Amino acid sequence: MKYFIKTFGCQQNAADSERVEAALAARGMTKAKDYTDADYIVINTCMIRESAENRVYGLVNNLSKLKSAGRQRKPKIIVTGCMTGLAVRDKSGKFLRKIRKAMPVVDEFMPIEETGFDHQPLRQDKENAWIPISNGCNNFCTYCVVPFTRGREVSRPYEDIMTEAKELKAKGYKNITLLGQNVNSYGADLIQHANVILEGAQRPIGSKRCYRFAKSDLASLQHDNNRTMKQWNNVKPVFVKHLGRYRIPTLFPYLLEDVANLGFDKVDFISSNPWDFSDELINVIARNKNITRTIHLPVQSGDTNVLKRMNRWYTRDEYLKLVTNLKFKISNLKLTTDIIVGFCGETEEEFQHTVDLCKKVGFQVAYISQYSPRFGTAATKTMKDDVPHAVKEKRWRILENLVNKPHLKHK
Ligand code: 5AD
Ligand code: SF4
Repeated sequence: MKYFIKTFGCQQNAADSERVEAALAARGMTKAKDYTDADYIVINTCMIRESAENRVYGLVNNLSKLKSAGRQRKPKIIVTGCMTGLAVRDKSGKFLRKIRKAMPVVDEFMPIEETGFDHQPLRQDKENAWIPISNGCNNFCTYCVVPFTRGREVSRPYEDIMTEAKELKAKGYKNITLLGQNVNSYGADLIQHANVILEGAQRPIGSKRCYRFAKSDLASLQHDNNRTMKQWNNVKPVFVKHLGRYRIPTLFPYLLEDVANLGFDKVDFISSNPWDFSDELINVIARNKNITRTIHLPVQSGDTNVLKRMNRWYTRDEYLKLVTNLKFKISNLKLTTDIIVGFCGETEEEFQHTVDLCKKVGFQVAYISQYSPRFGTAATKTMKDDVPHAVKEKRWRILENLVNKPHLKHK
């Protein structure tokens, strides 16, 4: 039996696919050259934008010819990843019906957790490795489907991550990228669980919520968290002025420094929500020279009102202040970002604030997207996608020319 895996979307999906691949190899399957050579095709899907979703439908329907009557070898087609994540979380069943109808040729829609997720990843690269540190997101940016596709944030136990990092170091890996939808909040849930344990409250821990990193049983998770709590009992919540409340304490600065101290050439991390990029984290980066100097700091918009509608939890000025602070403390800093143009109600003036912010920051690269409404999100439910396509296109082009300077890069 031969398998072929096609991965759409972000690095997190690519890292997930490495684990799926390991599970298939463990079942005795070998890697196929291409789709036509495969008995088992796994499609790891993305649906961050409509275009990503449509690419999946296009591919799967193309694959239907592999199942034509005249063909001897008819592969099994499995769809997994974000689309199935949303399908299992959408209690109305509407999304599952939609994808079943759009891709009738699919044999099975399988949540990624059921594809053999506990396997050690089968890594192709011998120098660069990804390590997932958390899964899911609690931020609920109003445009974003991720909290619905991957669910709430679940941090992987600290020791699991350190063990994997040490193994990679021993194998000679040079560059590590820590992955999470929002790495900055890593460990917030572990601390909360630890609090629950210390208070002696009766609450099931490590059960369903930890499905993606289900290796640790209840006892070892409790052990981990007690240890975590003792070791980091100096982790204090920070007061966030504009929110009028405390920022949750997280373990990311500690984890990042511990991984960096293992002596890799470079330790990278993605992605960081600016709202919980703490001073402590900046200091850790500043004092560890093998931590990346190119930081991905998605701004999404340079206008405070748009940021509010996006539920981004920071203002334009706070973002700029963070950038100033980062530049001041970290020499040779380079910044990259994500921007959405044409979000619901974005006026010309609001867009110009994004243009102005880009000029002020001087990003190396910006990943610019045109807003597309996503199933189940707050923006889809409560706001109007009212910026015309042509305007989105124009704004996208302006920023692309300003930040990414394609006309200069091609020369
Ligand atoms: N429309 C357009 N872009 C989006 N992104 C996330 N959701 C949407 C959406 N509905 C972009 C954001 C995010 C990146 C991964 O994708 O910029 O940072
Ligand atoms: Fe989506 Fe916002 Fe979470 Fe990033 S931080 S995954 S944009 S909800």
